[in-house]
Formats: sequence, structure tokens, C-alpha cells
Amino acid sequence: PNKIKNICCIGAGYVGGPTMAVIAQKCPEIKVTVVDINVQRIADWNDESLDNLPIYEPGLKEVVLEARGRNLFFSTNVDNAINEAEMVFISVNTPTKKYGVGKGMAADLKYVELCARNIAKVSTSDKIVVEKSTLPVRTAESIKTILDAEGKDIQFKVLSNPEFLAEGTAIDDLHNGDRVLIGGDQDEDGLNAIQCLIDIYSHWLPRERIITTNVWSSELSKLTANAFLAQRVSSINAISALCEQTGANVDEIANAIGADSRIGSKFLKASVGFGGSCFQKDILNLVYIARSYGLEEVADYWEQVIKLNDYQKRRFAEKIVQNLFNTVNGKKIAILGWAFKKDTNDTRESAAIYVADYLLNEQAELVVYDPKVKAEQIYADLDYLNTRSEEQNKHLVTVVRDAYEAMGDTHAVAILTEWDEFKSYDWEKVYNGMKKPAFVFDGRNIIDKQQIEDIGFKSYNLGRE
Ligand code: NAD
Ligand code: UDX
Repeated sequence: PNKIKNICCIGAGYVGGPTMAVIAQKCPEIKVTVVDINVQRIADWNDESLDNLPIYEPGLKEVVLEARGRNLFFSTNVDNAINEAEMVFISVNTPTKKYGVGKGMAADLKYVELCARNIAKVSTSDKIVVEKSTLPVRTAESIKTILDAEGKDIQFKVLSNPEFLAEGTAIDDLHNGDRVLIGGDQDEDGLNAIQCLIDIYSHWLPRERIITTNVWSSELSKLTANAFLAQRVSSINAISALCEQTGANVDEIANAIGADSRIGSKFLKASVGFGGSCFQKDILNLVYIARSYGLEEVADYWEQVIKLNDYQKRRFAEKIVQNLFNTVNGKKIAILGWAFKKDTNDTRESAAIYVADYLLNEQAELVVYDPKVKAEQIYADLDYLNTRSEEQNKHLVTVVRDAYEAMGDTHAVAILTEWDEFKSYDWEKVYNGMKKPAFVFDGRNIIDKQQIEDIGFKSYNLGRE
């Protein structure tokens, strides 16, 4: 197969940005252009100050600094970049559908389809089109049909190359991932296209970590991986509720079962519920696909992972109200952490949004602190729920840039993201500044319960009596 010299990636988001930055870093002889229709996003990627990049990821700045302007470019000239490239990654968003058939379940593929139509329209040379977005199984078939429908005398090959990076560790995951997965047709042309992509990843990954499969296995592996990961979180969260009734300690259980190499120790941390743009969306999509094939038992099985997660978020919010003597009306509660996990500024589907909304329904006043999330984002997340007016959200929620300021004069502190800095606060000082009795609700089990109670706090920890 011919060596790739020019790559275009459509979509400069959480996946397209970091993934292409690393490909450009590791393959200096390949020109990589990341394009987006969002003008502001592209301007931010091109910003002189690397502190204004549109997403926060540890280590991203350094990679962008190394490659940007050398062989990594960010542009809004989508058509030009597509046409120049031999390989085009589609890395646009595939959110849950908000309308019509499959509303609230299926993945909305309109952005992906628009990309395919655009590639078909503007291309004047052969292209390998790579699905980087997470897509329902058999999407490659539709993409191929659209690409070929213009009837041009050029060849399109479609590969599936799902992305397994997790936010907050994206650069490390990309540099040193457990595996890369490439799905393609198993005929000669397909295998050649697969080889082109293998050649790119082989710049830095050992060959044995590059797994190749047929297209459908690759597409379905991505949904399956996220479903399995989320299922572990829901499983331990289910046990956390039982622990609270029985005197067992969920962290001790996680440790004890995780020592069994068949189970493994990762992804067993009880929490206020998983968030992020992927788990819920991808499981709902899996459930939808299973139902569409009439596989009701399969669909019900996976749907339970989501139900348990909703239960856990609600349960945590209920615990706050119960412990605060069954009313939070007019009480001031500090929310520590708004991002869906530490080390990211991403808030999509963050448990914090739902816990906050619950408390606001109970007429609490909230003061929010997150080290990386901007105030506009926090208000936008609440407004998006449409539970109350924007004015009411503004009135009931204050966002501050200092954690001690957030916690001052409050009745309770709720920890909703596991940011490391929360562990090293001067909790004695916090206690002295709060109303008594002072409560800590630790939704991530990151604070030492004994230490905090010795100071005088009343504390609620997930999965502890
Ligand atoms: P994102 O919303 O951060 O980025 C998508 C970008 O695509 C946006 O900037 C949007 O403006 C752009 N876009 C949409 N339509 C376009 C078009 N027609 N032309 C040009 N640009 C267009 O989304 P993301 O988090 O990067 O996710 C992208 C895909 O990757 C999704 O399918 C997601 O499921 C998958 N994924 C995400 C993660 C993650 O951690 N976020 C991990 C693995 C896989
Ligand atoms: C996930 C997958 O891990 C990644 O492979 C895929 O490409 C995208 O989706 P991400 O959503 O970025 O990545 O983060 P992840 O680390 O998986 O965390 C997801 C959510 O689960 C977070 O809210 C996190 O706090 C929560 N979680 C994770 C737990 O509550 N307990 C755990 O033990 C692990």
C-alpha cells in the first residue's frame, strides 16, 4: 500500500484534537490537518497562548507545542483539507438522538452522514475514510453507500478505528494505549487500507498492540467496551447501597474482590454515579440496537446499568437531604467539583448536574467550585435541564474560584468530583468557617472519614454505614 502523507480529521473535539496531535507528534513526515465548522474552537486550537486550548488534558499543551505549525494544523477550510488528504478521519459528535424514532436512545448520526456526503462531494482522489467517532454496528455500510453514490471514478475504503482514550488521561492513553483496534474489509483492498493505518500507529506502538478485525466487530467492540466498563461501576455502586445497610465497607470489598486476577482491581471505585459523554450514550445505543433486532432480554440486561446509575445519583442527593434533617430549603451547600471526573474540564452528563438539580428542587442555595470548569458552563448545564428559569438558576447558584470561599458559612459540603486538591485542604479551617453541625457528603470517598469526624464534621460516605 502507498504510504500516507496527508491526513485530514473532521471534528476538533475531545477526540479529534488530542488524537491528531499525537499522530502529528509521532509521525513528523505526515501533514495532519484538523478541521471543524466551529470557528471559535479552531481559533482556540490556534491560540498563541497554549493555556486557551479548547480542552484541558494533562500533557496536551506540550504535544501541541511540539507539532503545531510543523505538521499539525487546525483549520475551518474543511473541503480543502479533505481533498488534500489520502486518509480522512471522521471524529464528529454522535450524541443521543433528541427527536423522532429512537429519541433518547439511538445515536444521532446526522453529523457523520453530513461528513460522508461532504467527502463524497469534494473528493477528487482516492480516500481511506476512517470512522473514529463511536458508531452503531453496520454504520460503515451506510457511509460506503453515500461515498459511492456520487458515481465518481475514485475509490473509497472505509475503516473502523474506534478511540479508547479516557478524558483526563488522554495523552497517556494515546501514547501508551493497551491496544488500537482497526476494522476493515478482509479483501485485498481492505487489507491494504488496514495496513496504511497500521503503519501510522506503528510509529510508536508495538505491532502486537494493534488488533485488526472485520468492520462489524470493530464497531461493536467500542460499544461493548464502554458497556463493560460502565457495568463495573454500576455493579460496585449497587453494592455500596447494600454496604450502607449492613456495616460492610465498599472500599474494602473493592480491594478484596479486585485482588482476584479474574476480576481485576480497576474501575471498582464506588461513586456518585458515572458521567461523561460516552457511557450513557453508548449503552443506550447498544440497548436500542439490541431491541431493534428483537433481543429484549439483551436490551433489558444492559439498560439496567443506566437505571442503577440514575438510582445512585438520586440516592446520593436524597442522602444529603435526609441527613440535613429532611430539609435543605434556604440552606447553603457547597458543591466541590462539577466535571464528570478529575483532570478534565468536561461536564457532559456529570453526576454533579443531577445532584445539584435535585437539591435546587428542594430550594437549597448552592455555591459551586471546580478547578477547571467555567461558570458559564455550570449555568449552561443547569439551564439545559429546563427544570427552572435561567434567572432562578442564577439566583440560587453561585460559582466561585476559591474552594474555601465556596465552603465558608455553608451547612454542608458535597464532594462530587475526585480532584486531588480536595484531599489536601485544611479541613480544620473549613470546619471552623461552617455552620454547625457541619456536614461532608463524600460522593467519591476521597476524604479520610475518621480524620474528618475527629475534627467534628458529621460525614456521609458512599458504601459506609
Ligand atoms: P466533541 O463534541 O468534543 O467534538 C466533535 C466536533 O465535531 C465538534 O467540535 C463539532 O463542531 C465538530 N463537527 C460536527 N459536525 C461537523 C462537520 N460536519 N464538519 C466539521 N466539524 C463538525 O465530541 P468528542 O467528545 O470529540 O467525540 C467525538 C466522537 O468520539 C463521538 O462519537 C464520541 O462518542 C467518540 N468518543 C469520545 C470519547 C471521549 O472521551 N470524549 C472517547 C472515545 C470516543
Ligand atoms: C470512557 C472510557 O473509559 C474510554 O475508554 C472511552 O474511550 C470513553 O469513555 P471517560 O468517560 O473519558 O472514558 O472516563 P472514565 O475514566 O471511563 O470515567 C467515566 C465515568 O465513570 C466518570 O464519571 C468516572 O468518575 C466514573 N468512574 C470510573 C467511577 O465512578 N468509578 C470507577 O471506578 C471508574
